[in-house]
Amino acid sequence: MTTMNTRAIPVIAIDGPTASGKGTVAQRVAAALGFHYLDSGALYRLTALAALKQGIDLNDENKVSAAASTLSIQFIGEKVILDGEDVSELIRTESASQNASRVAAFPAVRRALTERQRAFRAAPGLVCDGRDMASVIFPDAQLKIFLTASVEARAERRTNQLKQKGISAILDDVVKELRIRDERDSNRQVAPLKKLDGAYLLDTTAISANAAVEQVLRWAKDTIRATQ
Ligand code: CDP
Repeated sequence: MTTMNTRAIPVIAIDGPTASGKGTVAQRVAAALGFHYLDSGALYRLTALAALKQGIDLNDENKVSAAASTLSIQFIGEKVILDGEDVSELIRTESASQNASRVAAFPAVRRALTERQRAFRAAPGLVCDGRDMASVIFPDAQLKIFLTASVEARAERRTNQLKQKGISAILDDVVKELRIRDERDSNRQVAPLKKLDGAYLLDTTAISANAAVEQVLRWAKDTIRATQ
């Protein structure tokens, strides 16, 4: 059996703030290319949930990072399973989002999840989304994209998403919550959310998810072909 150098396996790293559409775009790009997909945010959401289930105080960095390194999880299609339980809905609530952002600020938690994320790099390629895909987890990614949108557009999308799930949401509250999370994710000491110099900027305020997917696929064609 020949072992492929994993650095040669193409990675498309999509980072950006909450509700920018990066998850939707990343999943569709992965499907179009037949690549694997990593939703890195889910790992932080699962870490916070697992810690709470174990009665751990979310301020306790050591204990939370121990929970991160012993996570027993499976991704089955759209489903996310923690310790055999389907937690797909539970990890998407607003409190789960805020808890994820709190534990994500701990360096030990981020370290505990690093190798698990890198293990998703498998042939024929990977599309991943998060905050530090291009800066920390896959610094040698062949294509780096910073996907963003105005706070208003993001809040409107998040509100609509919640309404579709039958969860009532007030736009002003959603704006406040987005700002709290943006602020925490951008100003933390470790792996803060920011656009790297070499990353393409994709602003989706005025374009559809389909148009964003098309743009990423055009960039992928240019950059991934060029490096193979
Ligand atoms: O989908 P949304 O952008 O709202 O959230 P997410 O990508 O699931 O991430 C949830 C939280 O996890 C974020 O607010 C970040 O604090 C954290 N996160 C991170 O620190 N690094 C990543 N690579 C992904 C998520």
